[in-house]
Amino acid sequence: MTRLSKSPSKHYHIIPSLVLITLLVGMWGVVPAQAAINGPLAKAVAQGKQIFLHDTFGGRGITCNACHRGAGLAATVTPNGAKFPSLSNAATIFPRYSARAERVITLQDQIRACVTGALGGTPPANDSLTMRALVSYLTSLSQGKPIDMGGKPK
Ligand code: HEC
Repeated sequence: MTRLSKSPSKHYHIIPSLVLITLLVGMWGVVPAQAAINGPLAKAVAQGKQIFLHDTFGGRGITCNACHRGAGLAATVTPNGAKFPSLSNAATIFPRYSARAERVITLQDQIRACVTGALGGTPPANDSLTMRALVSYLTSLSQGKPIDMGGKPK
C-alpha cells in the first residue's frame, strides 16, 4: 500500500524533466550555430563600420549614417516622407531586381549607387579594400539571418 502511493508521485517528477530534455534537444537541432566573427574578418567589419560612419567619398559632405541611422540598423522616415531603410537584413536580400536600374543588382551595386547618388561621391571599386570592408560590415549586420532572396528591406 505504501509502495503504490509513493510511485505515482515519482513519475510526476520524471515527466516534466523528460519534456524539458526533449525541448532542449529539439532546440539544439533547430537553432543554427553562429560562428564568431574574429581575426582579419573582424578587422574588416570594424573598418567597414568606420567608413560607414565617417567617409564622405569626396562628395557633398554626408556619410552613410546620415540616412541609414544607428550605424545602419535604424529605419528612418523623415518629416517630408523620405524613407531610409534599415540595413539590418540588407545582405540577406541581395542580389535582387531593381526597378530603377531595370536589372538584377548586387549589394556592391547598391553601395556604389548610394555613394554616387546619395553622397554625390566617387564610388569605391568592387575589388577595393573599402568595398570589401563595407560589404563585410553590412553582412555582419545580417549574421545569423536566413538568406531571403526576393525579400524586402526592413
Ligand atoms: C541621402 C540618403 C542616403 C545615404 C547618405 C545613403 N543611402 Fe543607402 N539608401 C538610401 C535610400 C533612399 C535607399 C532605398 C532606395 C534605394 O534603393 O535607393 C537606400 C538603400 C541602401 C541599401 C539597400 C537596403 C536594402 O535593404 O535593400 C544599402 C545596402 C545601402 N543603401 C547602403 C548605403 C551605404 C553603404 C551608404 C554609404 C556609402 C549609403 N547607403 C548612403 C539613402 C541613402
